[in-house]
Amino acid sequence: MPAADAGGTPDPLRRLTLADLRRRTSMKWRTYEPDVLPLWVAEMDVPLAEPVAEALTEAVRLGDTGYPAGTVYADALRDFARHRWDWDFPASRTALVPDVMLGIVEVLKLVTGPGDAVVVNCPVYPPFYQFVRHLGRRVIEAPLDAAGRLDPAALESAFARATEGGRRAAYLLCSPHNPTGTVHTEDELADVAARAAARGVRVVADEIHAPLVLPGARHVPYLTVPGSETGFALLSASKAWNLAGLKAALAVAGSAAARELAAMPEEVGHGPSHLGVIAHTAALRHATGWLDSLLAGLDRNRRLLGELLTRLLPGVRHRPGEGTFLAWLDCRALGLGDDPAAAFLDRGRVALNSGLPFGTGGAGHVRLNLATSPEILQEAVRRMASAVPDTGRRTREDP
Ligand SMILES: Cc1ncc(COP(=O)(O)O)c(C=O)c1O
Repeated sequence: MPAADAGGTPDPLRRLTLADLRRRTSMKWRTYEPDVLPLWVAEMDVPLAEPVAEALTEAVRLGDTGYPAGTVYADALRDFARHRWDWDFPASRTALVPDVMLGIVEVLKLVTGPGDAVVVNCPVYPPFYQFVRHLGRRVIEAPLDAAGRLDPAALESAFARATEGGRRAAYLLCSPHNPTGTVHTEDELADVAARAAARGVRVVADEIHAPLVLPGARHVPYLTVPGSETGFALLSASKAWNLAGLKAALAVAGSAAARELAAMPEEVGHGPSHLGVIAHTAALRHATGWLDSLLAGLDRNRRLLGELLTRLLPGVRHRPGEGTFLAWLDCRALGLGDDPAAAFLDRGRVALNSGLPFGTGGAGHVRLNLATSPEILQEAVRRMASAVPDTGRRTREDP
């Protein structure tokens, strides 16, 4: 029997077998050889939530596959945000965008020019570097502190550098933070808003992981904190309901940035897929019970990972994340060099993300995707341990 949550929705992480998953043709399951267990890219090993599958099936049956129209997605996000986070915003302050990264790029075009700087908190989701640089902006790093939290001093000096000579600048905040799973507090975000306002830095908050905050923590939407009025947020149902292949996302402007967002070219809104809009809308409106079951399953996996590491890989340092389905593992004590993911792949046949592309602080680290069954998670850690020389597997207390 699959594990069920209190509301009776079975844990989506226990629904699919390895044989089911190996039939998938998406990036997670097709990038590596068939003997490799993939726990890397941020796809989840879950079936579609039933209300999402029904909405898509109905659209396909009807041939409802034209261009998206209206504000159905924004209205659904607004209702979700009101209930979940006590955050309200009018649909008039939103723009439909193809996906979160392209939405970020379009917002950065509105508030910065060529050669301007964008501040990021490393280690961070690698496309933050790639897309910003491809846009012709400079990346300035403001490292997270040793506890994986926003560091006010690092932000202050990065904001000062970014605005040198009176240049325009932006700050790309990842909230919750990928890869550490850090959930920023209201006080931390208010401090960000105050510092950004003082320097004239425009905040762009990537909140794609916002619905994935686990028990014990609370997501605070950036645009709800005092002083955030000139900021923007990007949201999408794609991570929390595993809909990355059904493209759609929303940009939301703070009350003092609405006119700028309205200047985004209308054609940007032609990029998202209509089926994406239908799927994301159904998820936000009708699959919150499914989400709660998922969160309960992720919470169990988060605990299981801690137990497995203690038992099989005590040399790995790991702070359980408060949000996202990602775990950031410090493997520097294992003796596997700067890129332990290479050894885990070669010798353990398990695919994790190398920490190196996550910027400063990524060397010697790997990112592991927890959104899988407990059995696969267990097997993955067993394989990781098998790739480590005996010395790395010992506890610090061992001789
Ligand atoms: C922080 C963050 N932003 C953006 C994305 C990508 O989102 P999209 O596919 O909507 O561009 C991801 C995907 O994992 C992510 O973790």
